[in-house]
Amino acid sequence: MSLANDLILRAARGEKTERTPIWLMRQAGRILPEYRAIREKLSGFKELCTTPALAAEVTLQPVDILGVDAAIIFSDILVVPEAMGCIYEMYETKGPSFPKTIKNAADINALQSTAQAAADLDYVYQAIKITKKELNGRVPLIGFAGAPWTILAYMVEGSGSKTFNKARKFLYTEPELSHQLLQRITDVTIAYLKKQVEAGADMVQLFDSWAGILPPDQYQTFSLNYMKQICDAIPEAPKTVFAKGAFFALKEMGQMNCQTVGLDWNMNIAESRAQVGPNKTLQGNLDPCALYQDYDGIKKSARHMLDQFGPYRHIANLGHGLYPDTNPDHVKCFIEEVKSYSMKTLHV
Ligand code: CP3
Repeated sequence: MSLANDLILRAARGEKTERTPIWLMRQAGRILPEYRAIREKLSGFKELCTTPALAAEVTLQPVDILGVDAAIIFSDILVVPEAMGCIYEMYETKGPSFPKTIKNAADINALQSTAQAAADLDYVYQAIKITKKELNGRVPLIGFAGAPWTILAYMVEGSGSKTFNKARKFLYTEPELSHQLLQRITDVTIAYLKKQVEAGADMVQLFDSWAGILPPDQYQTFSLNYMKQICDAIPEAPKTVFAKGAFFALKEMGQMNCQTVGLDWNMNIAESRAQVGPNKTLQGNLDPCALYQDYDGIKKSARHMLDQFGPYRHIANLGHGLYPDTNPDHVKCFIEEVKSYSMKTLHV
């Protein structure tokens, strides 16, 4: 089906667009009262993730309410470890928790096969199919997965953490097992993303949320090599790599088989462009806290960001996900300013 608005895909391919496209990480859920209304009727977050019609409904909300140029399928990066055999619980206050973590070779050997894990994620493919139908070509749909290092971090640590010291200890004390586990996660992720594209995802993003806590040499060995495998294995869709905190790896990401590289808000835009090179689209990177400003402040921040990126090879976004207490009207103000300023001022 042809898309009425394919700005984001054209920007990813490096084509000229009439304005800068915009979507926001964590746009589905979190900030919208309409999301909370659906979520409150259910047993919890996981029920929403695993019920395709409801996941599709909350995926569409930001398209209808906020006016973003892409939908991102409502799911979580943690569905992959769960399909591999590490069940998670999601607690409102403390976030995710895995009752059983990966500690040794036996734990890795007990994980589900790649084919079985990818098949068990069928509810995500069903949600994508329903969403595509309901989007009816309005905007593209983004699929996603966590990068293998970030997924290993949760599988070994067992929960969120400021330091992820159990996960980082595992890399130092069990390098061979770490590579075995990363390869298992990589294989499932490739199968999973391929099936998302088959179901209708127009592009895919890899989230390496815990990239920035590794030293650069370990990041190369334990993360970039696996992200590279994933990008190489999925020629069928444009790919975005977002490695939060990994300013030291931007040059390598510039050489990866992807179209777009995401920047967080700590990354200097001009320096990042110099590192990544001219052949990738950059995505980002407003500080999510900038949305706590008044409307004038938000507009100023949006224009400043757009001026630094320039008109082309840019997909506007935040430097990380929206914070839950962000006022949706402030988000709309940011989106509107990106659209109107880039159209009037930059893309002439
Ligand atoms: O971007 C979107 O809107 C699509 C949906 C999406 C969610 N999680 C829904 C969600 C996406 C892309 C994610 C990715 C994700 N999940 C990441 C990578 C991006 C990042 O933020 O770094 C990570 C690290 C996770 C793991 C995760 N999921 C944590 C740590 C938590 C608890 C804290 C939090 O973020 O709220 C979640 C829960 C989660 N995932 C919620 C949503 C809407 C909130 C839970 C709820 O509604 O009850």
